[in-house]
Amino acid sequence: MEAVTVRESGSLRIAAIGDLHCPRTSSEGLRELFHDLGSEADVLLLCGDLTDYGKPDEARLLVDQLGHARPVPMLAVLGNHEFECGKQDEIVRILSDGGVTVLDGTAMEILGVGFAGVKGFCGGFGARALQPWGEAALKQFARESVEETVKLESALAKLRTPSKVVLMHYAPILDTVRGEPPEIFAFLGSSRLEEPINRYEVTALFHGHAHNGSPEGRTLGGTPVYNVALPLLYKQFPGRRAMRFVEIPSVAAPVAS
Ligand SMILES: [Fe+2]
Ligand SMILES: [Fe+2]
Repeated sequence: MEAVTVRESGSLRIAAIGDLHCPRTSSEGLRELFHDLGSEADVLLLCGDLTDYGKPDEARLLVDQLGHARPVPMLAVLGNHEFECGKQDEIVRILSDGGVTVLDGTAMEILGVGFAGVKGFCGGFGARALQPWGEAALKQFARESVEETVKLESALAKLRTPSKVVLMHYAPILDTVRGEPPEIFAFLGSSRLEEPINRYEVTALFHGHAHNGSPEGRTLGGTPVYNVALPLLYKQFPGRRAMRFVEIPSVAAPVAS
């Protein structure tokens, strides 16, 4: 686990956004979103679907414009769109070279707040969630969400900070996908992902993917869940920066001399 320690204590201002789908969001749109972000936030979370077809050039477009957000630390998880061309590893390299830390079952500490990230997967919610039973293809599909949940759990287990923040692409609860057609709820997230969030008493969670979902919900354990898909943010914050800002209590470790 990496750690960035810049100041002693207080709070950490998070800016979160997902589903940029570059180049669906133009260079100009990206500039508006990220310009001088450091004056409003201490860290930027990018919650997947950063590219439209998972093409390396789309990731380069984003990285070029993220320069306007510096020197804010930037964390990301991949979304399903990053996998479309099978070039997800190259996209991770481009993002990393551009100063974005991509989390995938991994954790990081910034200014005394722990961050855990995972893409997540779908499969549905509650008693109606898909079970690994029957055909091999169906078992494989259902197990993907189990594996993503195990990755999230191992990332959370590495964190020792009082405040823990999770970013993912898929939704862990039903409430933040409401607004989408009910027929596709099961493809928008999985409540399996909620279990470690409650057990580790996560402070806040940010996800994307459900473009027409609802902006806020809570897990059964009370963790606030924010859907930060860009189309939703544009509707939620008309006329201002389309980004979700949340302040998190932080207790930073002493700065190394
Ligand atoms: Fe998306
Ligand atoms: Fe997505």
